[in-house]
Amino acid sequence: MPVPDSFADRLSIARKKQMPNHVAIIMDGNGRWARQRNLPRVAGHHEGMKTIRKITRFANELGVNVLTLYAFSTENWKRPRVEVDFLMKLPGKFLTAYLPELIEENIRVEMIGHFEALPEHTQHAIEKAMKATEQNDGLVLNFAMNYGSRLELVNVVKQICELAMTQQIDLADVNEALVESCLMTSHLPEPDLLIRTSGEVRLSNFMLWQLAYAELAFTDVYWPDYDEECLLEAIEDFQLRNRRFGSLCEEEDALKKQRMK
Ligand code: FPP
Repeated sequence: MPVPDSFADRLSIARKKQMPNHVAIIMDGNGRWARQRNLPRVAGHHEGMKTIRKITRFANELGVNVLTLYAFSTENWKRPRVEVDFLMKLPGKFLTAYLPELIEENIRVEMIGHFEALPEHTQHAIEKAMKATEQNDGLVLNFAMNYGSRLELVNVVKQICELAMTQQIDLADVNEALVESCLMTSHLPEPDLLIRTSGEVRLSNFMLWQLAYAELAFTDVYWPDYDEECLLEAIEDFQLRNRRFGSLCEEEDALKKQRMK
């Protein structure tokens, strides 16, 4: 049998197989992309914004249901003021340029992270996009903005303590389902595939609970250069993996169990 090599052939084969329901991406390498070109770091972030558009459209076309993008971590405030200011303006720029297209493509914009600590203009841009797309039921484009997993987990602990202190729950009620219900992602499925660009191989405080059983994919490509071909390759690789979720049974049984949770 001939090996399919055209992009269209590969796409059609991938589409017939199990698609990751939720893809999460740590978009890294913007600064190095810019340095390679003697450009300021912010030029890398600007180019990275265009990649978000390209990858969102392609993920939607593939039939991925949720795409979570790590856009700004709780640790990123330590960066130089000009860079932070620029990053805070990007949701506004992105959504002004692409909101009509997101609406047309039935994409719903959501956010996880500490919303109130964002500058007002950033909050407005995100709120506007969430409102304008709330009826859409296609791909969920979930921005992790001012997000940190440890802080999220500290807040889960606080919520559970509050429930216990006000006698709404007993110690015996504390279980995985309760923890999950207190996460910022409680309404979303767990990520099936985590991608990190730029050659770094770490999680950087991203969705530490939620990624427990995700398949991990690392690429040397810098985020501004990441394209449809890169995502298709990550998905093809994902489709070759045998996901067992800690059991010895086959992928299908494991998936059924996971869905029944
Ligand atoms: C990491 O690269 C990237 C970020 C901290 C920011 C990512 C943000 C975007 C791609 C744009 C966000 C856009 C919207 C619409 C929210 P780095 O700067 O750490 O790169 P380096 O490791 O090469 O220095």
